[in-house]
Amino acid sequence: MIVLLGASGYVGSSIAWRLRQLGAAFFSPSHSDLDLTSRDAVSAWFADKKPEFVINAVGFTGRPNIDGTEIEKWRCLQANTVVPGVLADVLGGLGIRWGHVSSGCIFNGANADGAGFTEDEEPQFAISDPRAGWYAQTKWMAEKLLRDAPGVIIWRPRIPFNAVDNERNYLTKLMRYDRLLEVRNSISQLEEFAAATVQSLQERIPDGVYNATNPGSILTSEVAEALRRHGICRKEFQYFTDENEFLAHPGRVYRASCVLDPGKLAAQGIRMPEVHESLERTLHAWKRA
Ligand SMILES: NC(=O)c1ccc[n+]([C@@H]2O[C@H](COP(=O)([O-])OP(=O)(O)OC[C@H]3O[C@@H](n4cnc5c(N)ncnc54)[C@H](OP(=O)(O)O)[C@@H]3O)[C@@H](O)[C@H]2O)c1
Repeated sequence: MIVLLGASGYVGSSIAWRLRQLGAAFFSPSHSDLDLTSRDAVSAWFADKKPEFVINAVGFTGRPNIDGTEIEKWRCLQANTVVPGVLADVLGGLGIRWGHVSSGCIFNGANADGAGFTEDEEPQFAISDPRAGWYAQTKWMAEKLLRDAPGVIIWRPRIPFNAVDNERNYLTKLMRYDRLLEVRNSISQLEEFAAATVQSLQERIPDGVYNATNPGSILTSEVAEALRRHGICRKEFQYFTDENEFLAHPGRVYRASCVLDPGKLAAQGIRMPEVHESLERTLHAWKRA
């Protein structure tokens, strides 16, 4: 049996979909079944269940968007750092393999030659950039806790998107904004990311950190143009002149944009399609809410 934590969320529900598609038996405890912040409760629960592996898709990304993580700091710290910290301690002690959904938001930009950051490079954004918000810091603290823990795979997705209109979907978010910020990012097609997480654990790839984005990178304007080309959004998008204009809005948190290199995951035989190709296929299958 597999345990999936955070199965009701945007990312977790996609992993649940993938497990169902594979016919894999899994169990997803709810908040009321198990307090994931309590080491004693988690320890007793997993000692009893003894799953084959665990996927942690619990987290707090803010409501209505990341700006909300600056207000609900404790909730954010609990979901993004305390929960993975408890899991590392308990699952490591019980010898249960597991995977944790981290985030690429701990990086900003790309290497000087435009190449994506690899897993060997230290995330420079969450650590030392004073513009880094609370969300990025909580995700980075979790990675720090988990890096030395045994039996854990850490996946770093970025800005998930898929073909179903949803307030958590990057494509839906873009369409709802009146003005866009032109930035270059690596992004993750949600179902392809979900398939990669399950495959990583089923195929027992080595423990460690893996960038889990579609290869390549894409500009905001390329995504906006693709939405128009597919007739999904006919808006004439307007753009902020620069980041300063974007940040002038009160309460708005600085957003990192970054390019990641998913080559390490691909070297394990887990290949997500090239980003433009994946976006085209997703838009072709677009379903309104
Ligand atoms: N969405 C993104 O843009 C994005 C990008 C990169 C990485 N990620 C990462 O992906 C993970 C999932 O994000 P998401 O977008 O799927 O968020 P989401 O839709 O808000 O789902 C979060 C999930 O975590 C559960 N949860 C939150 N706090 C909990 C707690 N204290 N104890 C137990 N369960 C708790 C929620 O359960 P309830 O529904 O019961 O509250 C829900 O199942 C997070 O780690 C996030 O950092 C997300």
